[in-house]
Amino acid sequence: MGVAENPLRIARDAERVWSEGEQRTKKRGIGDAASVFPASRSPSSLFFPPMKPSRADSGVSPVPREFQSAFRARYMSGMTILVTNVLVWYDSVHMKSIRKKVIMVDDNIINLTLGKSILSHHYDIYTAPSGEKLFKLLEAVKPDILLLDIEMPDMNGYEVIKRLKAFRETAHIPVVFLTIRNDNNSELEGLNLGAVDYITKPFSPALLLKRIEMHLLLESQKNTLKIYNKELETLVLKKTETILGMQNSMFNTVVDLIEFRDASNKGHLQRTYQYLTLLVRAMQESGIYHEEIAAWNDVETVLKSSQLHDIGKISISTDILLKAGKLTEAEFEEMKKHTVYGVEIIGKLEEDAPGYEFFKYAKLFAGTHHERWDGKGYPYGLQGEAIPVQGRLMAIADVYDALVSKRLYNAMQSHQEVVRCIKEGRGTQFDPELTDLFLTIADGFEKVLEKEL
Ligand SMILES: [Fe+2]
Ligand SMILES: [Fe+2]
Repeated sequence: MGVAENPLRIARDAERVWSEGEQRTKKRGIGDAASVFPASRSPSSLFFPPMKPSRADSGVSPVPREFQSAFRARYMSGMTILVTNVLVWYDSVHMKSIRKKVIMVDDNIINLTLGKSILSHHYDIYTAPSGEKLFKLLEAVKPDILLLDIEMPDMNGYEVIKRLKAFRETAHIPVVFLTIRNDNNSELEGLNLGAVDYITKPFSPALLLKRIEMHLLLESQKNTLKIYNKELETLVLKKTETILGMQNSMFNTVVDLIEFRDASNKGHLQRTYQYLTLLVRAMQESGIYHEEIAAWNDVETVLKSSQLHDIGKISISTDILLKAGKLTEAEFEEMKKHTVYGVEIIGKLEEDAPGYEFFKYAKLFAGTHHERWDGKGYPYGLQGEAIPVQGRLMAIADVYDALVSKRLYNAMQSHQEVVRCIKEGRGTQFDPELTDLFLTIADGFEKVLEKEL
């Protein structure tokens, strides 16, 4: 063990010396919860034996004075730091070698003695003569497994296990019933109550040892798996956060790029996203087109995808996009194509992530936001509810923002003028129900505008 061996040995020597002193004044017995504790083997008690005897009854120190002063000399010095380090090392590296703790509960003292003699070579064995004593013992000892008798006065084994399983601190302790009952119903009842095994008395020592070993191994594997799952969960969470972060930053870059190309209406994509949010929230509250909205798995994904509605403008020449005057007919025809270009671009992105709903909705926004309710829109000339609701919503948000913003090809109009204009387009350019809804929340559009411009 190299470097760590010396302090360990020192501590063990100290422990031995302490025990020798203690044994002169104390006699152990079975049945007393305090007396059934074995000489402690936990690493911390190895290194830090008490400096004074705790019993006030004897009035006589169980440890000779010369040994007490030896302790003080050793443990009150700079050794503390070294010992602490070794303790940490010992706990982390040698957890597996630490003896497991077994509690045996039985009202028959002969059984407890027998169990103790079989198990004490392999485990730290603690005994309790009743359920009540067990729960007292559990305040100080966290066992790795519990061997429980069924037939006991006051609180029988079934009552004990029910109480154990009722509390988070004790529910995980594997319980093995050790009982003289050998009928199927008793065994089934025990297992149904959460016991991991059922052994009938008289038991074979070898079989008992093997069964305990098997359950402890299972328990340790379960814990390892739990830790592994937790680590895996953390890893997946971190990776997901990283991927989402990358996705967001790439998405924002694309949105910036679209706006950079079409510098005529800065902030248009962010504002239309907010107008849509207001419209969709109002739809949810009023129940308008609730079936369409119910079909969306994630409303935020739908709203966010709206910011790609003009992505097709990337394919339009800047001569047209940034033209200061009115577009010629040919230029306008080319400009109209940003809708289908958008669908094509998003379709290409979708090839790498088929089934990702974000792209499905983004294509609907891009392809249909210039359709008109009366069928005179572009690029497909769809009419009425044949236009996807995304397109009908964006038609209102897009026109509102285009008209209230100062653009290269038109003068800025006031909020009231634009609201009037949209009202006039009810049933011709715009979905009548959505127009009515817009009119009820138009003030919210104006607030977005004031904040963003
Ligand atoms: Fe557009
Ligand atoms: Fe737009």
